Amino acid sequence: MDKIRIRGGNRLNGSIQISGAKNAALPLMIVSLLTPETLTLSNVPRLADVRLLQRILQNHGVDIMIAGKRPGQNGQAGDVKQLSARTIADTTAPYDLVSKMRASFWVLGPLLGRCGEAKVSLPGGCAIGTRPVDMHLLAMEKLGAEIAIEGGYVIARAKDGLKGGQIAFDKVSVGATHAALMAAVLAHGDTVIDNAATEPEIGDVAECLVKMGAKIEGIHTKTLKITGVTSLHGAEHAVIADRIETGTYAMCAGMAGGDVTLKGANPAHLGAVIDVMRDAGITVEAAAGGIRIYRNGNGLAPVNVETQPYPGFPTDCQAQFMALMTRAHGTSMIRETIFENRFMHVQELARLGADIHLHGDTAEVRGVAKLTGAPVMATDLRASVSLVIAALAAEGETMINRVYHLDRGFETLEEKLSACGADVARIAGA
Ligand code: EPZ
Repeated sequence: MDKIRIRGGNRLNGSIQISGAKNAALPLMIVSLLTPETLTLSNVPRLADVRLLQRILQNHGVDIMIAGKRPGQNGQAGDVKQLSARTIADTTAPYDLVSKMRASFWVLGPLLGRCGEAKVSLPGGCAIGTRPVDMHLLAMEKLGAEIAIEGGYVIARAKDGLKGGQIAFDKVSVGATHAALMAAVLAHGDTVIDNAATEPEIGDVAECLVKMGAKIEGIHTKTLKITGVTSLHGAEHAVIADRIETGTYAMCAGMAGGDVTLKGANPAHLGAVIDVMRDAGITVEAAAGGIRIYRNGNGLAPVNVETQPYPGFPTDCQAQFMALMTRAHGTSMIRETIFENRFMHVQELARLGADIHLHGDTAEVRGVAKLTGAPVMATDLRASVSLVIAALAAEGETMINRVYHLDRGFETLEEKLSACGADVARIAGA
């Protein structure tokens, strides 16, 4: 298994190209199941999760072509993928694939919407929380599907097709909103989704569906109104920039000090993250085609944060911000309200000398004068990159193990950081 070695202390200066958003690319690729025509997605990040989803979609019969670079296309931009689900060869999503990546469970909605049947493995457990799918199943039932659970699989049927309905979620779920939206676009009649998630990735999927001929009102609001259509056609769509990757590199620059421009980043998607970084004493400003981050010498101020659904502070930036606060001049309280077990990074940060005390869903982070490099273990995608952020400021060498977690969601991280002066390298298959 690869490792990443970081020698801390270098300031970061330069620019980083932000990749397409993992959490938009995955549902957008799944949308291809809804039409027999070709969906062309550009700015698709080269990530382990994307490659795995590609196998899952090919298993359903989707032809996937990676189009060559177009003239003048920025070399660092993501892939252009052409996805064609002319026919759905198989409506089963097997356990051995779904268990590797939870988002693949979202094929349930499009398969039901297009084929009137689906057999999808339940995703199983996850390091950061129980993560049930009850709201996904509730949404399918509200659209008239019959749902049964057999042998670890969801067996769903809507032999006369899905029917429009009222879906009111009792809490905000990104995945359940994606699933309900993707199912409702081909249902007979009107659907209203109340208390829908408003993450930018939801908006990106809805805008792509509209390009394919779907009828959706209220995009970017908590109430989505969908008028079902009989079929969808092909389209071309560019994946939005990854706001979580943006927040991560912004915190790398904030931690190490220096001056970094994040090219392709969309400041509008980062509201809460930018606010807390400014409160911590880091300068964040819009720059041509991106965001500029700099911190020169002044220390970090402690900031209290609570994770919330968008536009609140994203849970996917919680671990990264905790790493930043380990060096603040004072104590920060970080409350995790979305997932019940998303503090796996605390003990690993403690190995680098951090002083963090857990009180249920809240971490009390007492800033320390210095961190010291050590061997540490990545435990999940976002926890892994919090160790990178801490290591950038730690004295000496840090060796991060199990970086396959990181590769799921960060494209060429070591190249991007070393191009800005970080002493970071991947140690292959050590
Ligand atoms: C999406 O996961 C993201 N994944 C997660 O990012 C992100 O942390 C999460 O949204 C919250 O923003 C992708 O986009 C692929 P939820 P999702 O449904 O859809 C509970 C990353 O690091 N819930 O919004 O699975 C659930 O347990 C990943 O990139 C139910 O109770 O998250 C959680 O407590 C990690 N029943 C809360 O809702 C359900 O049926 C929010 O989960 C569904 C969810």
